Amino acid sequence: MAEKLRIGIIGTGGIARGHARSYKMLDNVEIVAGADIVPGKARDFLDKQDLPHAKAFEDAETMLKEMELDAVSVCTYNQTHAECTVAALEAGCHVLLEKPMTVTMEQAVQILKAEKKSGKIVTVGFQPRYDPNMIKIREIVQSGELGKIYYVQVGGGRRRGMPGGTFISKETAGVGALADIGCYALDMPLNALGYPKPLTVSASAYDYFGKSPVYNPQNYQRFEVDDFAVAFIRLEGGITLDFRTSWAMHMDTMGATLFLGDKAGLKVASPHPESAWGGAWDGTVGPLTLYHDKFGLLVETPIPYIQNNVDRFFEKVKDFVDAVVNNRPAPIPTSQIIYNQAILCGIMESARLGREVEVAIPEV
Ligand SMILES: NC(=O)c1ccc[n+]([C@@H]2O[C@H](COP(=O)([O-])OP(=O)(O)OC[C@H]3O[C@@H](n4cnc5c(N)ncnc54)[C@H](O)[C@@H]3O)[C@@H](O)[C@H]2O)c1
Repeated sequence: MAEKLRIGIIGTGGIARGHARSYKMLDNVEIVAGADIVPGKARDFLDKQDLPHAKAFEDAETMLKEMELDAVSVCTYNQTHAECTVAALEAGCHVLLEKPMTVTMEQAVQILKAEKKSGKIVTVGFQPRYDPNMIKIREIVQSGELGKIYYVQVGGGRRRGMPGGTFISKETAGVGALADIGCYALDMPLNALGYPKPLTVSASAYDYFGKSPVYNPQNYQRFEVDDFAVAFIRLEGGITLDFRTSWAMHMDTMGATLFLGDKAGLKVASPHPESAWGGAWDGTVGPLTLYHDKFGLLVETPIPYIQNNVDRFFEKVKDFVDAVVNNRPAPIPTSQIIYNQAILCGIMESARLGREVEVAIPEV
């Protein structure tokens, strides 16, 4: 391996900027190339990132063949996550893949197979995990303080946060709010619980806001995905997960996240509604409260909110780089996120069929 990790970025749109910014803050990496299928876009991006020496390509395959990269960030829209990740793995690169993992289970399985064959790591970009409050939630849930956890309610959503661009077409995003921010809403409790296996899903999905000329005047005619989804998910270990997510709704937030155990309960307040109004919700959490009994009395214990300036996005990129450099496993591994993906796919299927479906986790 060269002295500095040689990094390539596949897909030089919006979020690639966050990857470039973070890599540039690290001494042990160098962004040497970028690729985007839109002609001229990668060059323009690299120049704007003050990376004039990095090489621009108009397809990822050529970049991977010519550049001898150590690692890549896959920052393409959802529908091309799998093809770009597989190509990068086959070229011997480690991959930092943007969320959601994929759109379909077939695509997710392609990634798992290529990852296994390559011996390289794929980590999925769930930066909310690096929020110290999120780490505290996991610590509390894992401590056993709540006893046997049997019910979790989670709802991440925005009041008015309808995106446009590549996020609302089937061909590019493939799925709407459900995967875009729903994947974060799922990751929070699933990660805290230790990623129990999903068994069944019963779900509905809607698009009233996306298709409305009143609420989505610019894009209603080309809106093809969901803007709201709700699901009842059975998890291994007798846990029920009650989930909701939205890009737009006539409500301030989707409410608190609740963990109910037989010894105690944990409430994770929604972040301030204004962050939902502005469309900024991306897995952020509010203050925590523990509900339990002491000496036969009902007690509420506020857990102080950890004020922090953690640059969560930078931390996710840094953790990926550290894992590659130190030969560590993927920080946010596909072995977990395949469950997240299976739930998203189960929700899509159940909503389409109008009935409960079983969640199949393919063996790879
Ligand atoms: N982690 C986060 O905070 C965060 C935030 C926003 C978006 N995202 C995720 O990042 C991904 C991209 O989002 P975005 O806002 O940057 O979208 P975008 O549409 O701005 O950029 C995607 C780019 O990928 C390019 N592309 C698509 N297929 C390609 C291929 N096969 N080879 C090379 N280039 C290809 C497109 O031309 C486009 O320029 C999405 O999956 C989204 O969910 C993550």
